[in-house]
Amino acid sequence: MTVKEVVARHLESARARSFDLLEPLSDADLVRQHSKLMSPVVWDLAHVGNYEDLWLVRALGASGFRPDLDPIYDAFRHPRANRPALPLLGPSEARSYVRDVRARALDVLEQVELDDPASPLLGDAFVYGMVVQHEHMHDETMLATLQLMDEPGYRAVAAPPPQGAPPERREVLVDGGTFTMGTDTEPWALDNERPAHQVELAPYLIDAGPVTNADYAEFVDAGGYDERHCWDEEGWAWRREAGLEHPQFWHREGSSSWSRSRFGWREDLPPHEPVQHVCWHEAAAYAKWRDRRLPTEAEWEKAASWDPAAGRKRRYPWGDDEPTAARANLGQAHLGTAPVGAYPEGASAYGCVQMTGDVWEWTSSVFEPYPGFRSFPYRKYSEVFYGSDYRVLRGGSWATHPSMARTTFRNWDHAVRRQIFCGFRCARDA
Ligand code: AVJ
Ligand code: FE
Repeated sequence: MTVKEVVARHLESARARSFDLLEPLSDADLVRQHSKLMSPVVWDLAHVGNYEDLWLVRALGASGFRPDLDPIYDAFRHPRANRPALPLLGPSEARSYVRDVRARALDVLEQVELDDPASPLLGDAFVYGMVVQHEHMHDETMLATLQLMDEPGYRAVAAPPPQGAPPERREVLVDGGTFTMGTDTEPWALDNERPAHQVELAPYLIDAGPVTNADYAEFVDAGGYDERHCWDEEGWAWRREAGLEHPQFWHREGSSSWSRSRFGWREDLPPHEPVQHVCWHEAAAYAKWRDRRLPTEAEWEKAASWDPAAGRKRRYPWGDDEPTAARANLGQAHLGTAPVGAYPEGASAYGCVQMTGDVWEWTSSVFEPYPGFRSFPYRKYSEVFYGSDYRVLRGGSWATHPSMARTTFRNWDHAVRRQIFCGFRCARDA
């Protein structure tokens, strides 16, 4: 396959995923705002098309399809809560808009020179990778929106996840020393993953797998949400203000048993799956209760990617080969988490499992630029988010597409957010 064919295939499969995701929804559910935290999903769909028009049509020298739509679909212009009030394209208009943009983008793809070393956008087909990942990000965002729909909810149909035995060791020791954080060589790595740089770490212990529902239920059932000393000041204030008592989508069933809702459907809480839908404050409080802490972002990346025997970094926890169904729970293959231990083939060199897929993992780190960072190709992908407002999440969830499963990928969100598919693992000093 030529590079252009690979690119076209990626574009096509991202679009197939978006349309499949929305296919079970009525027009009313496409247009409705299911939560103030999220856009109506019909906004996400047209926004994906608008981004493609900006980057795969206009930025490459062709004339834009409908620049008049830019203000409506500029994420910075209107906060999510206000988007339902905008003159949005309706469901069928949005579908034909994204199709029309795509037709232009494919015409442009035929014309461009992808190995032009003078063009940072086109070299390594970077701008295509950026747009493909962008559509997949919004597909995950749409899934988070659908998770918030009222009962009876989104019709979630997928194969059950694999089972497996939990890893033998609960935590693994990571030796101290330098490792290479970030990347200069991943072709589709986004600006915030660059440049590669050396980081020196003291030895530490990190959980071999994510914290499970059963682990977390012990904390809840033991009254951890009322243990003031487990929460920092901001976390305690938020826990009280928001009335947090347990992860989002959990329901108490009697004194010590729980169910959860998934896309509006109730089921018993599966004890061995990673806990999901906890905010950063809840994750940090749990860790404190266990005499642990969250790993820093650097500790997370080293445990996921560093191969101490080879003295080099791996693209994925298991090595450089692409993700497969046996290595990680990605791309909504199961529309939910798998039990810890279900992916022994995906273990990192240090023996950590499910570092990629299943749940985004909160780290203790604030989202900051790496030394030598340069915005590319636009400031509003990363740069405007740097600073103390956002915490870094790593690893990708069950809803994340494999094109973002590399160990250097960085996600970020506010410490209070928990509607995303997030969990965590703990660490401690060795
Ligand atoms: C990387 C998930 C934090 O959704 O806010 C989407 C990605 N950037 N459109 C987000 C993003 C532009 C971003 N996150
Ligand atoms: Fe976007």
